[in-house]
Amino acid sequence: MNKSKEFPSPRAMGTVALRWHGSSLELLDQRLLPAQEQWITLKDASGVAWCIQDMTVRGAPAIGISAAYGVALAAHHAKNESWEAEIDQAIRELSASRPTAVNLFWALQRMERVFHASGSLNEARNRLADEAVAIHQEDLAGNLAMADHALDAMGFSADAGSATPVSVLTHCNTGALATGGYGTALGVIRRLHEQKLLKQVYADETRPWLQGSRLTAWELMRDGIPVTLNADGAAATILAAGDVRWVIVGADRITANGDVANKIGTYSLSVLARHHNVKFMVVAPSSTVDMTLKSGAEIPIEERDGREIREIRGIPLAPEGVRVFNPVFDVTPAALIDVIVTEKGWVRNPDVNAMLRLLG
Ligand code: MRU
Repeated sequence: MNKSKEFPSPRAMGTVALRWHGSSLELLDQRLLPAQEQWITLKDASGVAWCIQDMTVRGAPAIGISAAYGVALAAHHAKNESWEAEIDQAIRELSASRPTAVNLFWALQRMERVFHASGSLNEARNRLADEAVAIHQEDLAGNLAMADHALDAMGFSADAGSATPVSVLTHCNTGALATGGYGTALGVIRRLHEQKLLKQVYADETRPWLQGSRLTAWELMRDGIPVTLNADGAAATILAAGDVRWVIVGADRITANGDVANKIGTYSLSVLARHHNVKFMVVAPSSTVDMTLKSGAEIPIEERDGREIREIRGIPLAPEGVRVFNPVFDVTPAALIDVIVTEKGWVRNPDVNAMLRLLG
C-alpha cells in the first residue's frame, strides 16, 4: 500500500502545496501567503471540502488532488457498519466545493470508480489511498512533460543552449502551489529558467484574490526566477513595449472546441496579446479537458462573495454596501489561443479536430 510515497524533495521541485501522511492531509494555507507559512492538518473529507471552498488550497490540479485525498481520508476513518454511505457522502460533499475546475470532478470520478470496485472497507481504504497518490504523482509527472512540450512549441530545440532568452507574462498562480508540484504554465517558465532561456517573467497581480502577487511572485522569488510584478491594468503597456514574446497561462476547464476557462482577466489578456502580436499559450493537464462540453458557453463560472473585491483582510476598499460583480473565471475563445499544451503534446490554433488529435 502507498501510505506516504516518496516525492522529489521540495528543494528539487520548488514549493509544495500538500503533504499526504496516510491518515491525514496537510495543506499549506494559501490564504495566508506570503505573510505566513502555515500548514493545516485535515483528517476528514468535510475539512478538505471546506479548504477547497475557502481557497486554503486552490488551482485546478491541486483541487483535484486534494479532493482525491479527501475521499481517501473518508475511507481511512470510516466505520465498518457505514463505510459505503460515508464515502458516498464524502464524494458528494467534495463535488459541491467549487464548480469551474473540471479536475475536481475528474479526480472524484476516478475515486468513485475505485470505491465501487472495492468489496470491503479494508480494500477500499487501501485502493483509494493508492489511487489518490497515483493522481498526485501523475500530475507531477504531467507537469514535467508539459514543460518539455511547451519549449518545443516555442521553437526551442533540446539543445537550445545558445538561443536568445525571452520575456513572458503570466496570470494567476499555476505553479507548485496550484498543482502536484512544479506547475503548468509556471512549470514552463521554471523550465525556461532552468535552460537559461528566460529573460524575465511579468506576473499580473491577479485581482481580486491576488494569486499573482501573493503566490506567483513568492514562488518565483523562492526559486530565484527573475519576476517583475505588475498591476493587471499594466499588461497592455507591457505588451505594447515589445519585449514580451509569449503570454503563458493555465486553465480550469478546456472544452471540446478549445475554449478555455481560466482566472478572471485571462480573456482580456488574450485580446491584448492578439492586438500586440504576442503569442498566447495555455498549459494544462489532460484532466482539465472536458470533451463533454461543446464550447466555453457551457462552462459553469463561479461567482464569489463581493467581499473579495470590497475589502482586503477586513479593511474596506470600497464604499460599504456597494453592489459587486465577482465572477472569478472567464472564457477565452479558442480563436484567440495560439497553442494548447498538455502532457500528451501540443496543438496550434485549437479547434475540435486539434483537440481530438491532442487527446489521441
Ligand atoms: O481561483 P483559483 O486560484 O483556484 O484559480 C486558479 C486558476 O485560474 C489557475 O490558472 C488554474 O487553476 C490553473 S492552475 C495550474
